[in-house]
Amino acid sequence: MIQIPKGCKDMLPADAYLWQAVEDTARESAKLYGFKEIRTPVFEHTELFLRGVGDTTDIVNKEMYTFLDKGGRSITLRPEGTAGVARAFVENGLQGGAMPFKAYYLISAFRYERPQAGRLREFHQFGAELYGAASPVADAEAILLASHFLRELGLEQYTTLRLNSIGCKSCRARYAEALRAYFRPHIGEMCEDCRERLEKNPMRILDCKNEGCKKFTSGAPSMLDYLCDDCRAHFDAVKSLLDTSGIGYTVDPRIVRGLDYYSRTVFEFTTDLIGAQATVLGGGRYDGLLEQMDAKPTPAVGFAAGIERLLLALQALDAPFAERLPDVYIAGMDATSRVRALSLAEQLRGAGLITECDLMDRSLKAQFKYADKLGVRFVVVLGEEELASGEAQVKHLSSSTAERVKFDEIAQYIKEYRRRK
Ligand code: HAM
Repeated sequence: MIQIPKGCKDMLPADAYLWQAVEDTARESAKLYGFKEIRTPVFEHTELFLRGVGDTTDIVNKEMYTFLDKGGRSITLRPEGTAGVARAFVENGLQGGAMPFKAYYLISAFRYERPQAGRLREFHQFGAELYGAASPVADAEAILLASHFLRELGLEQYTTLRLNSIGCKSCRARYAEALRAYFRPHIGEMCEDCRERLEKNPMRILDCKNEGCKKFTSGAPSMLDYLCDDCRAHFDAVKSLLDTSGIGYTVDPRIVRGLDYYSRTVFEFTTDLIGAQATVLGGGRYDGLLEQMDAKPTPAVGFAAGIERLLLALQALDAPFAERLPDVYIAGMDATSRVRALSLAEQLRGAGLITECDLMDRSLKAQFKYADKLGVRFVVVLGEEELASGEAQVKHLSSSTAERVKFDEIAQYIKEYRRRK
């Protein structure tokens, strides 16, 4: 049998309601904060990610799905959403439009990573990007949207916001020197990637997944000691805006993020509910990226949440979401009744009730069994006598009560019954 590729997951109908709850919550949250949806291609020219995500990152160096198309162009399946949104913004001339620009997306993304719980090769993200605002208020707004979203999902008390600043280019240059000095004596014992990182981008060492390297990173200097006055003032302002908004956070100088485009504020929301891949949402400010895409300098801030990780967290809890079960099953005792059942079903669906009827010529007993499996609340049985009188018993399964109701009044009857209960 042909099997699903490693690191991918089928979303099965039984879990659809939870996916949809997360997606609906994402859309509703984004809308409340004035973000509109943007859709960009699943694949882009490889160059976009080399320039956007950065060529010292694991994503670009090890994890991209890159191939030549039939025209010989190098194409990459998007490993994340930010670079594509930046390209679309520039290419469609949106810089000339109203600012700030605020867009959100629900996408699939692809990374060739070692699969484990919460780490997939095809995964999904809810992301939001805000362009044009350099003020710390914009950082706070992105974080407020992220925490509103997690609160609406019922995950607020199970997540921790970790906040850091990685400063601007000049703070990072000084910090990089401090890191080189710190790691140099140990570099012989560290992995080959870290040896390369030492010169190219020593901050990446802090993010190394290799256990042998991790033991050296714990005593490394903290970025926060190298912030320039402007970056420090920006970070202090973000923290005080979060304080005023009642958003709790932990300052964590270990948060460096796995992408090169960040500057100043970076943040992650982590949870204890889902094991090692604990980050459910990550983001930050990236003031240099749009300029790198040949746009005029445009400050930017945003985040993305991993949908599969959120689902794992919700499944670990008594999630505040329930599937809407079918309202009515219309059983037919004979062939003629089954035909009438189909038209009555259409009438009830027209009134907004989820309605099922027999499609498999089953016996009445088997139809009841199926209705029970579906979790239906009401069953209407049609036979010769019901067709003649235009009335049928509406049975309420869980209370075992039944009432005779005219066909045309069944929809209203069920709606009333539901309202009363
Ligand atoms: P990221 O931290 O690489 O950031 O990914 C964001 C979230 O996507 C992670 O926190 C995690 O929940 C989820 N995620 C990442 N990789 C995987 C994977 N292999 N399997 C399952 N879930 C995963 C970004 O992608 C940035 N573009 C976020 C951003 C937007 N920054 C500014 N704007």
